Amino acid sequence: MKKLIALTAICSVICMAAFFPACNNNKSEPKVADQNDSLKKVVERGDYLANHVAACIHCHSTRDFTKYSGPVVPGTEGGGGELFDNKILAAIPGTLYGKNITPDNETGIGTWTDDEVLRAITHGIRKNGDTLFPIMPYANFNRMAKDDLLAIVAYLRTLKPIKNKVNDRQLMIPISMAYPGPALQASVDNNVRPPESDIVKYGEYMSTVADCATCHTPFVKGQLDFARMYGGGNTFNVGECKVNAANISSDSLTGIGSWTEERFMNKFTVYREEKSYNYNPGKQNTVMPLSEYAGMTDKDLKAIYAYLRTTKPVSNLVEKYPK
Ligand code: HEC
Ligand code: HEC
Repeated sequence: MKKLIALTAICSVICMAAFFPACNNNKSEPKVADQNDSLKKVVERGDYLANHVAACIHCHSTRDFTKYSGPVVPGTEGGGGELFDNKILAAIPGTLYGKNITPDNETGIGTWTDDEVLRAITHGIRKNGDTLFPIMPYANFNRMAKDDLLAIVAYLRTLKPIKNKVNDRQLMIPISMAYPGPALQASVDNNVRPPESDIVKYGEYMSTVADCATCHTPFVKGQLDFARMYGGGNTFNVGECKVNAANISSDSLTGIGSWTEERFMNKFTVYREEKSYNYNPGKQNTVMPLSEYAGMTDKDLKAIYAYLRTTKPVSNLVEKYPK
């Protein structure tokens, strides 16, 4: 009955607006169609960030490493199960799995409230209070603007629920040793996205969300060596292939200091065409989610380039494909 009254009320608002536009003086009241439009925009923003910038979906789905850069297997979006262990990267102290973040009630996050999902994304705390290992880049997401975070949560709610119970992790160290607690801000309410006109600051924001630093900054005894930020050199194993993360600091000789914007853009935009990654390249592959980042807008990629040019030059010659 309540539903019926609500429905009738909505109908009469729509009808009034349609038939008696002149009588509709209450301009501040959003119409139903407007509300749907703004919700659609929020979900689109979340879709963009989760798939092409923050790469949530690439870590939380099945990836096909018979293809270049391991594109997500269609139909597995958010279902979890992807393995992260010390065979892939020596600095990972154990065996972890991307969790199921689809709205499935039993095996995903269907029963989590928005606040619970936000807390996991920005503080690494699960609904049941357990702490997440920081390979899940919540220390970065802790700096994200609240509207971007809420957009991601709204988008996750639209994923197709997938029933997939993901294995528990096995850590070789106590989680308290890894938890970056003191570095996290208690509240994300005052986080801002810098204006796009401030291209360097905006680019820094986008590269924080995209977490370029973790792979591209050398690990020393399991900790990122921020004195050599973006200096590269971490070795990843992708199947049979060993690949070293490149030096993307502003060093002209060993980093990307002498790269033109065009060369940088091309590193990403070539993968907008499926045929560029949709093949088995034999021995060479990469863990960098190029098939996902390729969907970043030109404007966002150019901002990241502008920001990287301002980083401290780190001299470190990296051989991309070591023997
Ligand atoms: C580099 C890979 C990676 C990226 C990128 C990533 N995650 Fe995760 N995420 C993980 C892993 C691995 C875990 C499980 C960690 C553990 O078991 O301690 C996890 C855990 C979670 C959880 C907790 C679920 C549960 O049941 O415990 C949520 C929610 C989540 N991630 C959402 C996101 C969202 C949203 C994004 C993007 C904004 C994101 N993740 C980006 C790897 C990633
Ligand atoms: C999961 C790890 C990972 C992440 C995340 C990552 N990269 Fe990479 N990146 C690599 C590896 C490994 C290579 C070397 C192989 C290749 O070229 O793909 C690389 C190569 C590159 C290169 C080519 C440099 C050269 O000398 O050829 C650029 C440029 C680059 N990354 C920029 C970025 C930017 C910008 C981001 C964030 C938007 C990012 N990467 C995120 C792992 C990563």
